[in-house]
Amino acid sequence: MFFILPNPQSIADYVSARLVDLISTKPQAVLGLATGSTMEPVYDRLTAQVTLEDIDVSQLITFNLDEYIGLGADHPQSYHYYMSEHLFNRLAFARHKTFLPDGLCVDLQEQCELYSRKIAEAGGIDLQLLGIGGNGHIGFNEPGTSFQSRTHVVDLSAQTRLDNGRFFASMDEVPTQAITLGLQDIIEAKQIILVATGNNKAQVMADLYYSAIDENMPASIIKQHNNAMIIVDEAAAKLLPSEACKPLIATV
Ligand code: GLP
Repeated sequence: MFFILPNPQSIADYVSARLVDLISTKPQAVLGLATGSTMEPVYDRLTAQVTLEDIDVSQLITFNLDEYIGLGADHPQSYHYYMSEHLFNRLAFARHKTFLPDGLCVDLQEQCELYSRKIAEAGGIDLQLLGIGGNGHIGFNEPGTSFQSRTHVVDLSAQTRLDNGRFFASMDEVPTQAITLGLQDIIEAKQIILVATGNNKAQVMADLYYSAIDENMPASIIKQHNNAMIIVDEAAAKLLPSEACKPLIATV
C-alpha cells in the first residue's frame, strides 16, 4: 500500500506514466483530479508527456474533488482557476467534460446531489488522484466525516484554513466552507493514487500508517480499497518504519 520514490519529480514521472497508460488504453476514461501544491509537478509532467507523445485527452471526463464556497472561477485561489492554469488550458481537454463543484452555486444541496449522480452516470471514476491535508483530510473531508458521505458542504477546520492560508493574502480571505466529494464517492473509484511529498507531510503519513480504518483519519478509508497506492517521497517517509514502504521503480 505504501510505496516510496526519491522525490516529488520521480513521483510526478511515475504518476504521469500511470495516467498516460490509462488514457492510452481508455481514451474516454473518467479521472478524479486533485489540487494543491503536491499535484503541481504531476500536472507539469503530464502536460509535457501528453504533448511529447501526442496523446488524445479530448475524450477524457474529469471530476475535481472540491472547491471553496464563495470563490468564482476567476478567483486565483479557486480550484477552477488552479485547474485551468495547471492543466486544462495547457492541453486539448474538452472543457464541457471537465467538472468541478461550483463555489458560487445558490442551491448547494441540489448541486451536491447532482455532482455525485453525474459521476455515477459517467460510469464512475477510473483513477482518483489524492493529496492529503495535515489532519488526514482527503478532498475536504475533515476528520469525523462519515465514510458513507457523498458530495457535501463542509465547514473547514481551523487547521485546514491555517494550512491553506499560505495561498491567501490574509487569513480573513480564507473561505470557511467548501464543497467536497464524499468519502463514499472517493472509495468507489476503481483505482486510487494518494501522493504525499515533503517534510510537512511526514507526521500525517506516520499518523495514517499507524491508524486503524477510522473516521477520525479520513485517508484511512483507502486502506480498505483493493487497488490503492500511497506514494511518498523520502522526506514524507521519514517517520515511517523502513519496512513500511516498497520501493517503486519509475517507469519512464
Ligand atoms: C487542500 C485540498 C486537498 C489537498 C490538500 C493538500 O486542502 N482540498 O485536496 O490534498 O489541500 O494540499 P497540498 O498538496 O498543497 O499540501
